[in-house]
Amino acid sequence: MKPRIAIDGPAGAGKSTVARALAQALGLTYLDTGAMYRAITLSALRKGINLSDAGDLARLAQHISIEIRNDGPDNQNMVFLDGQDVTEEIRLPEVSRNVSVVARCPQVRTILAARQRQIGMRGGVVMDGRDIGTIVMPEAEYKFFLTASLEERARRRQAELEAKGEKIGLAQMMNELSVRDQIDSGRECAPLCPAADAVHIDTTEMTIEQVVRKIAVSTGRSA
Ligand code: DC
Repeated sequence: MKPRIAIDGPAGAGKSTVARALAQALGLTYLDTGAMYRAITLSALRKGINLSDAGDLARLAQHISIEIRNDGPDNQNMVFLDGQDVTEEIRLPEVSRNVSVVARCPQVRTILAARQRQIGMRGGVVMDGRDIGTIVMPEAEYKFFLTASLEERARRRQAELEAKGEKIGLAQMMNELSVRDQIDSGRECAPLCPAADAVHIDTTEMTIEQVVRKIAVSTGRSA
C-alpha cells in the first residue's frame, strides 16, 4: 500500500502549502481537512445558524454535501458545497474567524473524521489538519507536526490575504491566530496536539521547498 502521511500543526505553520506540494512531488492524493470544517462554517453562516448550537450544526453537517476534488491549480483541493464551487469563499476572513467554534463541535468532528478516515484507508495520501496523526490516521506510516512562531505565522496569513487584495494589521492577525490556537488546542474533543510519534519541524526560518524536502527525505523519498 502507498504511504499515508499525516501533517498537523497550528494555523499558518505552512501545513497546507507543504502538504499540497509534497503530495504533488510524490504522486499522492492531497486532502485538506480544514477545508471541510470551513465548508460547514460557510454553510452555517449563510443559513444564519447559531454556531454555539451543537444540535443545529450536527444536523447541518449530516445534510449538506461537501465534495473535495483534487484537480485545482497547483494540486489545490477544489471544494464544492451542495454542488457549488466554494474554493475561494471558504478562505474569507469571516469564515476563518468562526471556523474554530464549528470545529469544536464533537458531532461535526465525528461526521467529518469518518469521511477523512475512509479516504485515508485507501492509502497514498497526504492529509493535513489538527488531529490527523492522533485521531483520523493514528496508523499513518509518517507523521509530522509543523510549528512556527506566532509572528511568522501571522505574517504568512497576512501575505496570503494581501495577495487577494485584503489588508489586515499584523497585531490583529496575531490576535486572531492566537484566539484560534487557544480554541483548537483547548477543546475537549480531538484537540490540536502532536502525536507521540510525530516528527516536529519548526518552519519559522524555512522555505516551503526546504520543509517539503525535509519531509520527503524523512520518508525515504526525494522531492
Ligand atoms: O487548517 P485550516 O486553518 O484551514 O483549519 C480551519 C479550522 O478547522 C481550524 O480552526 C481548526 C479546524 N480543524 C480541525 O479542528 N481539525 C482538522 N483536522 C482540520 C481543521
